[in-house]
Amino acid sequence: MNKKIVLLLLLLMVSMPHAESDIDHESAIGSQLPNHIRSLLIEEMQAITTSMDVIFRALVAGEHDQVVPQAQAIHDSFIMAQKMTEADSKTLEEVLPEEFIKRDQAFHHLSAELAEAARNKDQAKQFKLYQDMQQACLACHQKHALDRFPNLKSESIGE
Ligand code: HEC
Repeated sequence: MNKKIVLLLLLLMVSMPHAESDIDHESAIGSQLPNHIRSLLIEEMQAITTSMDVIFRALVAGEHDQVVPQAQAIHDSFIMAQKMTEADSKTLEEVLPEEFIKRDQAFHHLSAELAEAARNKDQAKQFKLYQDMQQACLACHQKHALDRFPNLKSESIGE
């Protein structure tokens, strides 16, 4: 094989995994946060997961009344915002990309819509919104949580 080509291939092999992990590191935010802020994010994620479980059980039982407070809780669950100091907020502003903030806002908006649909006892709309929320979890994790969920790397659902 031509020497130049061998060199080129070697260079590609050495540089590709490196380039890839750089990209992951940039968009994955967990490892960029100071530990105490990352803990708050995890706490919020776990609270959201519990609410989603409860909502699912209420949805398949037609118990609209139980969907309302849980969906509302997700909407109001800015645990991070509530427990952060001013210095923390500043750090977050520096670390969080605009895209993450938009995804977070869109997600919280969906939960408000879900609470509203449950108040109106609109079964079909609740299911649709629940699905949209699941899609939002996955999409954000694929984009910003790869250092916590490395298996998502090869998946291509979400956006
Ligand atoms: C706007 C972005 C975003 C959305 C939306 C989002 N997450 Fe997350 N989530 C993250 C990030 C970032 C992490 C990784 C944190 C870390 O690296 O420690 C995470 C981590 C988690 C974890 C792991 C917590 C742990 O114990 O380490 C769970 C569980 C979770 N999310 C559930 C959900 C569920 C369920 C939804 C949707 C109903 C959701 N998330 C929506 C960004 C998001």
